Amino acid sequence: MSASIPGVSRFRSFTDSPALARNPIKVLSAYSGLLGSTFRFYLGGLKEAIVTIDPAVIQHVLKTNAENYRKSEIQVKRMGHFLGKGLLTTEGEPWRNQRRLIQKGFDRKQLDALSAIMQDSLAESLLEFDRRIEEGPVDIYPQLMEMTFAMVARSLFGAKLKREDIDLVSDTICTVQEFIVRQTLQPYLNPWFAVSGELKKHEDMRAQADNVLLEYIKARRHQAPGSDLLQSLMDARYTDGEGMSDAMVLSESMQLLVAGHETSSNGLSWLLYLLSTRPEHLLRVREEFNAVLGDAPLSHADVMKFPFTTQIIQEALRLYPPFWMIDRMAVEEDRVGDVVIPAGSMVIVYVYGAHHARHAWGDPEQFRPERFVKENEKQRTPFTYMPFGGGPRVCIGNQYAMLQILMILSMILRRYDFELSPGQEIEERAMVILRPKNGIKMRFTHADIVHTHASELVSA
Ligand code: HEM
Repeated sequence: MSASIPGVSRFRSFTDSPALARNPIKVLSAYSGLLGSTFRFYLGGLKEAIVTIDPAVIQHVLKTNAENYRKSEIQVKRMGHFLGKGLLTTEGEPWRNQRRLIQKGFDRKQLDALSAIMQDSLAESLLEFDRRIEEGPVDIYPQLMEMTFAMVARSLFGAKLKREDIDLVSDTICTVQEFIVRQTLQPYLNPWFAVSGELKKHEDMRAQADNVLLEYIKARRHQAPGSDLLQSLMDARYTDGEGMSDAMVLSESMQLLVAGHETSSNGLSWLLYLLSTRPEHLLRVREEFNAVLGDAPLSHADVMKFPFTTQIIQEALRLYPPFWMIDRMAVEEDRVGDVVIPAGSMVIVYVYGAHHARHAWGDPEQFRPERFVKENEKQRTPFTYMPFGGGPRVCIGNQYAMLQILMILSMILRRYDFELSPGQEIEERAMVILRPKNGIKMRFTHADIVHTHASELVSA
């Protein structure tokens, strides 16, 4: 029993569950304020879960004794049903093997090679963006989602991946992800989903997207090698010298698309919002880009040249961590200090709560990029800040994501002036990812100083 951990009663958990579904951050932060940095409650009044913002407990669960913790049902079972086996949905030895293989796709050399594909993809997306901003204020959230998804998709399948195929796969992932969330939040509807044809409809959609991507994989087996992630997945070898099958390459590609789908775009949306309300920070970031890059696009070789901008990105990911929580299941009973974690219980690493903890950050709601100056970083207790998770399952795309964010931000800030449209309420919505609930509307105009046109950036 986890008697040493303060808890919310089953009854209170049950009566709070509609509020929890509406705004989990509000409810969990209120519990944490009352009960401290580790507490118990019952998900939907049913399943016991231990929530923690304590860095010692988080470090133990994600890193020190990571072997004892599995990923949650939503990730492994439900996503596995649609996505097959791959990095996001496997555990133990099969996961370790895949991780070793895929890691190569994200090393320095590969990111250098991907920069050109990413730049071209962005230049193409900006042509569309230019058209949209002519029509009036835009909601930046879907725009950034389109930019980042196209970039990840082309990083995977190469520059020749057709725009209509990107759109089809993106729509499929969005629709299937929403369906998975419904299956999880309303499990009692699952038999109905099966008989009504809803399940089949989503399975068919996924199969169609699979077939499109499989064509690219099959074609690549007979083509000249590319400098994209697909090539690195195909070239990777297990210890016995075997490579991945087409089906495995497909399943891993799909998983990377899902993992890279909404994360960077959410981070970027919040970042632009924060900058739009802080002109002095905006100016400094723009100056840093101008000083280092002039008119040139940003590539991986440049990423270390923007210390101030990097602090701004880190602070934005602190205030609005796209993965607002990380969930695990304890395999066997475990203990960290006074905290006893019973076998089978769910552990919620409440990332948003840890990033907003007063004892760790002093004035957590304030936007202060200097928190991430090197000196301050050195003094920070590990696992008080973890936008990319931690331990062996730390985000495999974290360097890629930083490159992507810097690349897009550098282009937007040098090309446009922008302001928040008045009269909107900017609110957080914590589903799988922390999104802006009502979007973020902004008006963009072409900046006077720099006259870089997207059409000039698309390489011939
Ligand atoms: C700002 C952007 C991003 C954030 C904040 C982020 C955050 C995270 C976090 C917190 C985890 C750990 C989840 C867990 O432990 O349960 C994770 C895992 C993962 N991320 Fe990211 N991510 C980002 C971008 C990306 C991108 C762009 C890609 C791929 C192109 C990616 C691929 C992955 C994969 C494959 C995993 C699973 C790794 C494993 O289990 O071994 N992420 N990410």
